[in-house]
Amino acid sequence: MAYPIVILGSGRGSNAEALLKAEASKNLGTAKIAAVISDVEDARILSLGQKFKVPAIYIDPGQPGARLIQDAEDAYIERIQSFSPQLVVLAGFMRILREKFIQAFAGRVINLHPSLLPSFPGANGIEDALNFGVKITGCTVHWVTPALDAGPIIDQKEVRIEDSDTTDSLAKRIHIAEHRLLPDVVARLSKGRLPHPNER
Ligand code: GAR
Repeated sequence: MAYPIVILGSGRGSNAEALLKAEASKNLGTAKIAAVISDVEDARILSLGQKFKVPAIYIDPGQPGARLIQDAEDAYIERIQSFSPQLVVLAGFMRILREKFIQAFAGRVINLHPSLLPSFPGANGIEDALNFGVKITGCTVHWVTPALDAGPIIDQKEVRIEDSDTTDSLAKRIHIAEHRLLPDVVARLSKGRLPHPNER
């Protein structure tokens, strides 16, 4: 069954790249990346989309900060709907989406977060875990609900924190774990092999 997905990201796009590569090597189940969309005009995620011949779209967020302005969020909804996605993947999309967006794609939005939720939600998951002094952190893919970083967890991968770790060295290992976890979750979702939050 066709399983179109749309990826939203704000930055480097290394996780979008992992998904694009997984699709190219037929390791993304039945998922097909329909578009990558960014709130940052020169984000690497957009050039990656172009490289992989996927529509790469910048949509003006209207303002800096944690949220899109309402008109911009409406524009995101409309543009994403034009691809009729089965799944919307937030891969480093550094904006908090309002309930209207989440309702528009009810039960079809997932987020990647660089900590073992429910520990260390928010914008600095890697640094917060390091500063707190936990010895194990990792990454999480979860369903998006209106409560920030608090939706039902789909899957997680752990990463051990070494005494010598800096934010950079830890981030590198978390990214490696993310690049395995996210394509794996998307592939399993596309094959109907993971429970939907409404079925739990
Ligand atoms: C990833 O580490 C992801 O977990 C994080 O942004 C990074 C994006 O990297 N997301 C959040 O912190 C969301 N709160 P990428 O642009 O290289 O994929």
